Amino acid sequence: MLPFRQVVATDFDAVNQLIIDELRSDVGLVEQIGHYLIDAGGKRLRPLLVLLVAQACAYKGKGHINLAVIIEFIHSATLLHDDVVDTSEMRRGRFTANAQWGNPSSVLVGDFLYSRAFQMLVGLGSMEIMGILADTTNIISEGEVQQLINAKDPDVTEQAYLEVIRGKTAQLFEGAASAAAVLADANPEQCAAMKDYGYHIGMAFQLVDDALDYRGDAQKLGKNVGDDLAEGKATLPLIHAMRTGSDADADFVREAIREGSTEHLDSIISIINTTGGIDYTLETARHYANKAKDSLAQLTESPYRQALAQLADFAVSRNH
Ligand code: IPE
Ligand code: IPE
Ligand code: MG
Ligand code: MG
Ligand code: MG
Repeated sequence: MLPFRQVVATDFDAVNQLIIDELRSDVGLVEQIGHYLIDAGGKRLRPLLVLLVAQACAYKGKGHINLAVIIEFIHSATLLHDDVVDTSEMRRGRFTANAQWGNPSSVLVGDFLYSRAFQMLVGLGSMEIMGILADTTNIISEGEVQQLINAKDPDVTEQAYLEVIRGKTAQLFEGAASAAAVLADANPEQCAAMKDYGYHIGMAFQLVDDALDYRGDAQKLGKNVGDDLAEGKATLPLIHAMRTGSDADADFVREAIREGSTEHLDSIISIINTTGGIDYTLETARHYANKAKDSLAQLTESPYRQALAQLADFAVSRNH
């Protein structure tokens, strides 16, 4: 078990139980696809983040279990939709739901998970948390749409890339951490610090995801490598390669982005490696993870605060 999981092991079991309970539906296919994705596991980092922030802010109630499930359902909904948009075939070591049941079922069950999350949110009864998560889901959608607009464009800048990952990924970490601090009735400085922590760890997390898309082991990742190139996404490893490589290398990468083709994936990977594109991406991730850890200074010392620091390190060191 990852060390940052142990300090909330009991809460974590309760989260997994509530996930099963809340997946219930009278429509068989909803439960079937919901369980197919969720039973495959996943790292459950976002619910862990919720549990750790709530505990680190000395929360005394039980609502953090519900909030953790809400966040995992929103995450799962984005994955169902994301795999359709990215035409991905592998997720969590299995065929994606879209590969197995087709796009319409994946989109609709994604909608079910989103709306179940919002039903549960009403149960929590906090307008402030509802506001945070309404904004969060809205911004995630904008990030995904902006990424779609940027696809197959080799001129996407580092700044434009960072803006996309802020929306599509960091926002959910930010919303999760911020909502957990609000739930725990933390003071305004701590709430702001947890929001900041979530944003920075989320940025680090997606930067590493984008590095792993070129150098990961598909077996360990549970998803295919090269999916980003196949969609013509100018992620940071490629942006750095085009910026620092020879003209010929830069042109080669530009063409692959324009085509959205993995035909020359091996050559692209070797250009990324010679230009240090992975190292640059991981250094950038490390920078964000360190900022996340700096935000923890607002919390009193506790095993939960330590676990949040370990979670930030894991976001960078992970290979899955
Ligand atoms: C995948 O997230 C989507 C991204 C934002 C990169 P995770 O890597 O957390 O997916 P699971 O839940 O562990 O499968
Ligand atoms: C994930 O980005 C963002 C969301 C799910 C909103 P990716 O498309 O890189 O995630 P993976 O690599 O498919 O998990
Ligand atoms: Mg994807
Ligand atoms: Mg995607
Ligand atoms: Mg990815």
